[in-house]
Amino acid sequence: MDSREFAKTLEKQVADFCETLNTKLPAYSYIPLDSDEARIKVMQSRLFNEIRAGEIFGGWLKSTPELDVKKTLAEAVHEEYIHAGYLEEALKSKGAVPYEYKPLPAQMAMFNAFEGLTETVERIAAFPMAGEGVADYLIGKSLNVGTVPAWVTGPYHKIHEDEEEHGNYPFEILVKYATTPEKQERAARAVAMSLILRRQYFDNLDRWVNEDKMY
Ligand SMILES: [Fe+2]
Ligand SMILES: [Fe+2]
Repeated sequence: MDSREFAKTLEKQVADFCETLNTKLPAYSYIPLDSDEARIKVMQSRLFNEIRAGEIFGGWLKSTPELDVKKTLAEAVHEEYIHAGYLEEALKSKGAVPYEYKPLPAQMAMFNAFEGLTETVERIAAFPMAGEGVADYLIGKSLNVGTVPAWVTGPYHKIHEDEEEHGNYPFEILVKYATTPEKQERAARAVAMSLILRRQYFDNLDRWVNEDKMY
């Protein structure tokens, strides 16, 4: 398949997944939450994600031969730690200790799975395209709904702007490099892996926030 057509099929797969979240929005989106206590827990979990995302992108640098992708990943590392700073500040403003948080089992599994991917197209498809795509979709919703308090939306306005600024870079990387049937098959499977693990993470986070269960 033409690589642009292929990249579009992956985008559609991610968009379809996002659609399924609308019937019952996860705590991750902040939208169903009605207490700052719950919002703090979600933000601590998402602060962990920013730190872990930077680790993953940085860990991929040496094994990424494509110089343009390497540079993009290096910028992404820096950006994730800027995002972490925004969330740290917001948590401190509520009197919370930002890193008083242990990653949830499904959250660990999701990031460990990203870390284990070895090829540029599967990495980019799984994480920047599918993972961050879903995250940013829910950020957009939380900013627009009007019921999420300003101490939460403040940092996410800035994070959302960053995500919009680099536009559709995962898409363009896939157009450029997902050029063989073998690479396309691996990228498609990596997207499916990412989405199923994300659903697990969202469910795990829901159970922890709503029922105080770790799994
Ligand atoms: Fe990011
Ligand atoms: Fe981020």
